Amino acid sequence: MAEKGWKDILPVKELEAQWVTRVQFGARKLALYDTPSGIYASLALCNHGGADLCDGYFDGHVIECPLHQGAFDVRDGKPVCAPATRMMKTFETRVENGMVQIMM
Ligand code: FES
Repeated sequence: MAEKGWKDILPVKELEAQWVTRVQFGARKLALYDTPSGIYASLALCNHGGADLCDGYFDGHVIECPLHQGAFDVRDGKPVCAPATRMMKTFETRVENGMVQIMM
């Protein structure tokens, strides 16, 4: 059972290696990113125009939106390419007992 605030999201073995994985968690669509420096998480919908970032192109630590090619650094949510200009909502992550957890 997860500690207070930490939510089990997905078995770590179900992550797409070095790619982005779509997860439905309650009413929220989340994106989990497997990167060389760890696992990161964000809301899946782009804050520019609502496209699903899980359909975008992922490379290293950057997710590129499939609609207008805005891009974000998944480590902190910083926009790195226009037209994305606002911070992406990210979540602290960890792996416990084989599960990816995020702090809600
Ligand atoms: S909807 Fe993502 S950059 Fe426009």
